[in-house]
Amino acid sequence: MITQKTIDEVKLAARIEEVISGFIPVKKAGASYKCICPFHDDHSPSMHITPKLGIYHCFVCSAHGDSIKFLMEYQKITYPEAIRYLAEKYNITIEEEKKTLTAEQEAAKSEREALMNVNAYAEAYFIDQLFNTEEGRNIGLTYLRDKRGFKEETIKKFRLGYCPDGWEGLSKDAVEKGYNPDYLLTLGLCRKSEKSGKLYDFYRGRVIFPIQNVVGNSIGFGGRVMNTEAKGPKYYNSPENPVYHKSDVLYGFYFAKKAIRTQNNVYLVEGYTDVISMSEAGVENVVASSGTALTEGQIKLIKSQTDNITVLYDGDRAGIKASFRGINMLLAAGLNVKAVLLPDGEDPDSFAKAHRDSELLDYLTNNAVSIIQFKAHILMQEVGNDPLKHAEMVKDIIGSIAEVRDEIVQAFYIKECAQLFHLSEESLNVTLRQAVWARINSQPRTHTPQPQPVATENFPPYNANPLPPVVKRSEIPKQPQPQSDPMESVELNIIRLILKYGMLETYVVVGVDDDGKEKVQPMRIDQYVFNEFHEEEIQFHNLVYQRFYKEYARLAQENSSQDDLQKAFAQHEDADIQRIAIPILTEEEPDCSEAWLKVYDIETPKPDTDIECLNVELTGCINTFKFRLIEKQKKLLAKELEEGHPADIERQILQRMGELNKRYNEIAELLHTVIPSTIQL
Ligand code: CTP
Ligand code: MN
Repeated sequence: MITQKTIDEVKLAARIEEVISGFIPVKKAGASYKCICPFHDDHSPSMHITPKLGIYHCFVCSAHGDSIKFLMEYQKITYPEAIRYLAEKYNITIEEEKKTLTAEQEAAKSEREALMNVNAYAEAYFIDQLFNTEEGRNIGLTYLRDKRGFKEETIKKFRLGYCPDGWEGLSKDAVEKGYNPDYLLTLGLCRKSEKSGKLYDFYRGRVIFPIQNVVGNSIGFGGRVMNTEAKGPKYYNSPENPVYHKSDVLYGFYFAKKAIRTQNNVYLVEGYTDVISMSEAGVENVVASSGTALTEGQIKLIKSQTDNITVLYDGDRAGIKASFRGINMLLAAGLNVKAVLLPDGEDPDSFAKAHRDSELLDYLTNNAVSIIQFKAHILMQEVGNDPLKHAEMVKDIIGSIAEVRDEIVQAFYIKECAQLFHLSEESLNVTLRQAVWARINSQPRTHTPQPQPVATENFPPYNANPLPPVVKRSEIPKQPQPQSDPMESVELNIIRLILKYGMLETYVVVGVDDDGKEKVQPMRIDQYVFNEFHEEEIQFHNLVYQRFYKEYARLAQENSSQDDLQKAFAQHEDADIQRIAIPILTEEEPDCSEAWLKVYDIETPKPDTDIECLNVELTGCINTFKFRLIEKQKKLLAKELEEGHPADIERQILQRMGELNKRYNEIAELLHTVIPSTIQL
């Protein structure tokens, strides 16, 4: 287990704006930052990042949390994985402690973590089988090393393994070691015989390619048959499950990450073996889509490391046209896309094997062309002399250019096409404008990933072409309004005041001196609230607010500044408390006097200072709270009276009612002259 010390260090080092901007473009807005929220279909930057509090908060979908939570949600990784990821990013040495969990703790561990454990076990099992059993060495290792030509070093790096050809090699071993059969089934490592109800190995008799997540833990497996005559598909792959979402994974990404960053480019190939062979040949910035169409999730991963991608196409030319949709998605995501066509009959795996290291890299560098040019060449071969088909092809290519969000890049591509097709740039530009317009109108709103161009103070909308105006999207709804229950909204406002201003000092009247002058004393706002609550034995009705208030008492002692205190709440481990704190801490702060003007007519004297203003707000709030409490008690008493009681009890009730009425009138008087409770400071 990672020690608390390491976790604290990581939390301290991880700057929320840096962590998020590693994946999504963020823009500075005053003391905070804004970005497109990746957790809903966002079109204008609704996510606010507050470095001071170390948190993000989406004003539309309410997603919120600290850097660790962001990584967990965005990368779909576990808590310890997020810590490790950040430790690596910030060069923090991870300290671990041996701590055996109690049965209870073990059970409480999230399902995700438990599944990851089983995957780690399976990976180790397959590796052990490959190297340490006769069958593994004779069949698996011979295949990988001799037939495929992988170096042992490479086999170890990619953690390749072997699943024995019996029926229950892994199944039996796993169950004996205490792994939950349900998890083995969920992960697709085992299947259950309908007849006997027994588990059997899914990957039996195959070499295993473990698939790693961004932090290097195996989340899935591909198993390849070795015998070409064997029936069934060449690969078996893990099914979708809570830790393996195929559409968010790129094979090899973990091993390639660093090289992608240093080379500022990624090579995209199709298969496991392509990645391994290229990496072995020294081209390490390579990932595979695993034979399927590219997804938004995979593009996000790529975008997190580089803006440049080079797609490798096999020399046999099958499936090239099918990839064009994925290419458009890459362009739409703002990537600079190039393509390389390999010589006839070669795939990246065979080409890397057949050439010396430097030859592979030379070939890739010398043969990379812009994707638009590549597409044009491919389509031209089909078109021949048919003018109609020719026009269609041009439209198709312009359609791709229309996906590009950068006008300068667009202009560059248009120039390229004009030369290629012997057409004027003007006529192509007309087609381009139509295509851009068609894209804006036809796009399903859920399709495009960030970054969508948006108009902000500093940036004009990206497309200055004279297009029909885009319909303005509805305003972002403000933060959720406080509950309509009048009691709750007062309670929330008190919470809000102490969380925002609790440590500020105000003056309270503590009595009257001999001359009849009010005696005032400085007091912290939170102290004042505590006193009021304590004196009148008041408690919050809302149980979560009650919890919040208790935590406040604790954290206010542990933290010496309001900023630290706020940060502790913003990153609080209790999700309910965090949910209350974040909207309060990220709300816009209007000028005090403005708020004041909204509430009062001009004749009312305006308080001079913010602290006076705050004072009025606070006392108003507390009095309103008391007022509502009394109202409530009065209602209860009235009900009692209606029900009828013996005379002496009735007298007592009436007496209590009298007391309450007196208090009620006193407070009503105060409230009248002081403040309505809803003023937003
Ligand atoms: N694939 C798959 N199931 C199949 C065939 C392919 O999942 N039946 C996926 C695998 O992820 C594979 C990729 O598609 O890596 C590319 O397919 P292919 O080129 O046929 O496989 P390679 O990995 O290149 O394997 P090999 O070189 O051994 O043919
Ligand atoms: Mn292949």
